Amino acid sequence: MSGNCNPIGIFDSGAGGLTVLSELVNVLPNEKYIYFADSANCPYGSKPAEEIINLSDKITRFLITKGCKVIVVACNTATAAAIDYLRNSYSIPFIGMEPAIKPASQNTKTKSIGVLATAGTFKGRLYIETSRKYAADVNVCYQVGEGLVELVESGKADSPEAEQLLHRYIDPMVDCNIDHLVLGCTHYPFLKPVLERMLPNHVTIVDPAPAVALQTKRVAENNGLLCNQNLVDSTSIDFYSSSNTEVLKMLVEMNIRPQYRIEDLYFNNV
Ligand code: SIN
Repeated sequence: MSGNCNPIGIFDSGAGGLTVLSELVNVLPNEKYIYFADSANCPYGSKPAEEIINLSDKITRFLITKGCKVIVVACNTATAAAIDYLRNSYSIPFIGMEPAIKPASQNTKTKSIGVLATAGTFKGRLYIETSRKYAADVNVCYQVGEGLVELVESGKADSPEAEQLLHRYIDPMVDCNIDHLVLGCTHYPFLKPVLERMLPNHVTIVDPAPAVALQTKRVAENNGLLCNQNLVDSTSIDFYSSSNTEVLKMLVEMNIRPQYRIEDLYFNNV
């Protein structure tokens, strides 16, 4: 083996981080991955920050025990609450989710953008600082997406219930004349089919996952942590869940396996 071929760890409160994992596999196809879904504690969105720090710390210790060389916190709420703590507590690099306010604010023509995220994400330093820095002259219509994570986790991302709830959240943003909608939670890209049906054509959906995958590549490269071995065009992924793996399996089969040549998928309960 050449380079560092230990796995990249990635975690989320549940299946949302799969939207980031699929982008990672795209830009770093020669890496091995370990994905941890904290399904027993999902959703994180309205939990106190201290609780999310404890949960993230426990998962991090588990991923480090498995030999992970880099950890991607593929959850906006966990990034908001815990990334500073994790970076101060462990020596390996951590990559977190970006609120994507910057690209939306820089590209808006109507000077109005929408942000859909959890209560925990809106309370985080990262969201507050990024909004101050990049969106000072932009009207930001923000909305807590209560109940959306639960719909995704129960396999109902494209359902009449999701459509009804999203109308409640999105219609006021459309009335505010937004031309960009930032998805501030890694579960929300699963709602894209419904969002695309309901949003006017001129509204661009901004998903930060591709940028986070590129940032992971840059960080691994700069730290000499890329695996240079060509794994014959295939990727190996181990999945762990603190609860039921059924929805995780279904979403992996629907969204990850068909896109990429993944040789080995292992599902484990911990
Ligand atoms: C949640 O678990 O409530 C949301 C996860 C996220 O913020 O990405």
